[in-house]
Amino acid sequence: MVGRGFLGCFILCVSLASVCAIKGTLNSIDDLRDIEFGHNFPRHGLMLLHWLANNIHIDNNGNMRLNFNPTRGDYGIHFYGNADNPHPLPILPRQRGSYYSLGNLVGNNNNGAMARPYYVTQRFYNSRGTENNRDRVILRVREEESNQFIVDEVYVTQHYPPNGNRGSAYDPDNTYRVNVSLLRQIQRLPTINLNDIPQTYHVEINHNILEHLENIWDTPGLALLLAIVLYFTRPNIKGSWRPRRLRADETQCDMEDKDNTLFKLEVKTTDRGKARIIWSGIPKRLLDQGVMVVLHRNNNSDSKSELDRSSVGGQASGSYNTSVPLNPGLQVRLHKEVKNWWNYLGFGSTIGEEIWRGSEFHNANREIPVDINGHDASLQLFVKDGKACARLYVKKAFTAWKKTFNNSWVGFYSSDSKDTQEYNTYQWQWAVNFSEESRSDCADIPGYDVYVYESSMTMSPGVQARFILEKSGGEKARTPPWERLVQR
Ligand SMILES: *[C@@H]1O[C@H](CO)[C@@H](O)[C@H](O)[C@H]1NC(C)=O
Ligand SMILES: *[C@@H]1O[C@H](CO)[C@@H](O)[C@H](O)[C@H]1NC(C)=O
Ligand SMILES: *[C@@H]1O[C@H](CO)[C@@H](O)[C@H](O)[C@H]1NC(C)=O
Ligand SMILES: *[C@@H]1O[C@H](CO)[C@@H](O)[C@H](O)[C@H]1NC(C)=O
Repeated sequence: MVGRGFLGCFILCVSLASVCAIKGTLNSIDDLRDIEFGHNFPRHGLMLLHWLANNIHIDNNGNMRLNFNPTRGDYGIHFYGNADNPHPLPILPRQRGSYYSLGNLVGNNNNGAMARPYYVTQRFYNSRGTENNRDRVILRVREEESNQFIVDEVYVTQHYPPNGNRGSAYDPDNTYRVNVSLLRQIQRLPTINLNDIPQTYHVEINHNILEHLENIWDTPGLALLLAIVLYFTRPNIKGSWRPRRLRADETQCDMEDKDNTLFKLEVKTTDRGKARIIWSGIPKRLLDQGVMVVLHRNNNSDSKSELDRSSVGGQASGSYNTSVPLNPGLQVRLHKEVKNWWNYLGFGSTIGEEIWRGSEFHNANREIPVDINGHDASLQLFVKDGKACARLYVKKAFTAWKKTFNNSWVGFYSSDSKDTQEYNTYQWQWAVNFSEESRSDCADIPGYDVYVYESSMTMSPGVQARFILEKSGGEKARTPPWERLVQR
């Protein structure tokens, strides 16, 4: 390990009247090279950190503000009590904020707020074991008035290795504070001049590797982050360049086979509320062998319990409309197609070896609830059995909500351009008539009560839910149209 100073000393931080065991502060991307976090396939830490940097606003003074709501469980972030022994993080008096942990990819499949971009989850879906879910980013968050979430500290950490008898605690020896300057560097990666990299990050660019990563990770700045942290070469102390040794488990071969995301597999919505399979970028090598797309209930369903399938018919990209009602969790898998003599008699071919998994279908992919203007509540559109449904997140502190929303209703509209009164009579419901949602992961968002209504309107692209405060007019929220979201 290279003595870069920051790792050398085991920093005892006497912070907020408690001693914690944080290992140090990461000030730049360069510092990420020397720690374990996110390094070996299939760990997802670097993707998480990249995602966070792109979902946090940093002002000129280094103050950080989130553009989502951690107390509502957006993107699957959840409260972390720092109750592990030893405490991985400084003890935090209540008035100083709370910790929230980002990055758990297991469970909570039905909550629309859990959706995460595929670049964070794809290694998880395409590897087995527990290594693919060890990395976490922890935020120390304070809520200012009007749902503004200020981030006072960012940490990276990881669970102890599986089978280490350390349970699910975080490992203080691999917990680091993240300086805002590191997040700023990540934010700037898409615009950096490659000629500046050797001086800024003390690494030499391997253009072949960078180009390869850029083909795979189609997200601005991510390929460069991975390249700098994992694959560039760095100078030794005397200043001459030497190649960094690739560890046995991060060979070229891994890069090519396991992170092979040049193709896309997605579930979308037909105009009849059914699942539509979309694929693209399937290489000729696979098309020549014959491949098929197979629809599954979710990532946990075993290979025999398929819901539908179709040969890709030699098409590098295409789509297939299934007759399966749309539900959260649906997943497309790419399989080899085994051709037998009986195919020539008109019988379907057999499913061969699995090649790749797309992400689970989550409600409108990235959707987080929209705030109901002027009230501590928010509205979310989701799908169940192919029908448009809505959730109301009501802050527990908003105790008078039933009185305030007595005359309020949620309408389902076939598109953004419809007028308020153009709802179909069966496609609306009083807010107070929503039923309380019973789901296990409500425990993760203790500050909210969640209410749902399942309409009889068929989900299709463009459908939208709106919250109307008074019987006529008074719109206070509208969700983005289904599947017409701005990506982020
Ligand atoms: C964070 O980074 C800035 C700029 O690189 C530096 O001045 C500051 O000392 C760092 N803070 C800590 C706690 O290391
Ligand atoms: C499949 O569904 C899409 C979206 O509803 C529609 O535009 C397309 O025409 C459908 N294709 C077929 C073959 O039915
Ligand atoms: C609103 O309150 C009035 C009485 O104050 C009641 O008659 C009415 O049914 C309530 N509306 C709903 C939708 O519950
Ligand atoms: C709302 O709930 C009340 C009481 O459960 C019921 O009588 C009423 O029909 C419901 N309203 C609608 C529009 O379904």
